[in-house]
Amino acid sequence: MFVSKNLAVNEKDHLTIGGIDTVELASKYGTPLYVMDEDLIREHCRSFKQSMDRYYGGEGLVCYASKAFCCKAMCKIMMDEGIGLDVVSEGELYTAASVGFPMDKVCFHGNNKTDEELSLAIEHKVGRIIVDNIFELERLNKIALKAGVKANIMYRIKPGIDAHTHDFVRTGQIDSKFGFALETGEAFEAVKKAISLDNINFIGVHCHIGSQIFDIDPFVHAAEVMIGFIEKIKNELNYEIKELNLGGGFGIKYTEEDTPVAYDKYMEKVSEKVKALCGEKNLKLPFILIEPGRSIAAPAGITLYTVGGIKNIPNIRTYVSIDGGMCDNPRYALYKSKYDVVVANKASAPKDNVVTVAGKCCESGDLIGEGMPIQQVEAGDTLAVLATGAYNYSMSSNYNRIPKPAVVMVKDGGSRVVVKRETLDDIIRNDLE
Ligand code: LLP
Repeated sequence: MFVSKNLAVNEKDHLTIGGIDTVELASKYGTPLYVMDEDLIREHCRSFKQSMDRYYGGEGLVCYASKAFCCKAMCKIMMDEGIGLDVVSEGELYTAASVGFPMDKVCFHGNNKTDEELSLAIEHKVGRIIVDNIFELERLNKIALKAGVKANIMYRIKPGIDAHTHDFVRTGQIDSKFGFALETGEAFEAVKKAISLDNINFIGVHCHIGSQIFDIDPFVHAAEVMIGFIEKIKNELNYEIKELNLGGGFGIKYTEEDTPVAYDKYMEKVSEKVKALCGEKNLKLPFILIEPGRSIAAPAGITLYTVGGIKNIPNIRTYVSIDGGMCDNPRYALYKSKYDVVVANKASAPKDNVVTVAGKCCESGDLIGEGMPIQQVEAGDTLAVLATGAYNYSMSSNYNRIPKPAVVMVKDGGSRVVVKRETLDDIIRNDLE
């Protein structure tokens, strides 16, 4: 009935998440409210790990892409599940470090890391720094020399794969700001340079072809291209690549239109390809890393709002206004992303209305969605937007000086705040007169 399996309807006809009544959550913690289901997050982590075990003999590491949703509690869950972390800024690295995350399981990304970030990564002994360009490589070599260490690095490679997804979340094609190009020879020259440097330990290659991808073929193709590159490095430079990081990007179900593939299938097909090619080319099987973000966090989360004014413009549309908007969920404004909505206090009623859900920001484009099927809705209702666990809180802003909502985690029939709601004092905290 719902896009995520942790959602149901109770005897009061209220939407539940992880068995907890969402209308009660809204009244206990206030709205807007992000709610995450810890058990489902953990289940996703285990599915990825198990598929790595089943199809690749456990010779790999699943790293959660923390850009999807990062806070101390989330880092702790990943730590507890034996999952690594993909971080992309000093802020994410600092959050991980603050809970004592094992730094050997951290991959540090970014296409324009600062010296401060590189130094922090060295200081924390981050397991893998994913180097994006030569400018970064040279600076990192100097920083590592100063610290008297060798930095473990992988290169971000553009494999030239055009996965069918939104333009802004496509990253593996030739015209991308991320990484080294293969087809121009840029990546190969860069490898020669990396292995010649004293304070660099070049351990592997990385690619990430995009996000919210449903097809398995582009992932398999990317693995094929990367193994081809590993082979070239071995044959022409007599250098063995130990690790292959295939990034994230696995699609999830936001609406009934979406048809994601089980993670198992992804790992099965990719493992088959990697093993077959390595056998054929007489290469040692690389240790594989994957970096799912959305697929771990998104289905586990919902956002609860309170419905305010409703404006019916005859023959045009009905606007249903909520007490949040693009400040807590900018994805419709950015990508025209589609969501399912449910009136949480009449969750099983038929969705026989079609509305535009509008936020409260001072901007016409501040919408959660248009043409959204929904139950009869009135002011004071609790509205749930589903599958908002990834790239919602993490991309939220204080636009219009609106404080960010709290994040509540549900587990075992209970709930707890894992990120406090911002206050008005937080809004002026850094202002000086
Ligand atoms: N690894 C790297 C290097 C990445 O750049 C990303 C996402 C991931 C892993 C995780 O991808 P995922 O499994 O979550 O698809 N803000 C956009 C998504 C941007 C994704 C950026 N990189 C959105 O809201 O759809």
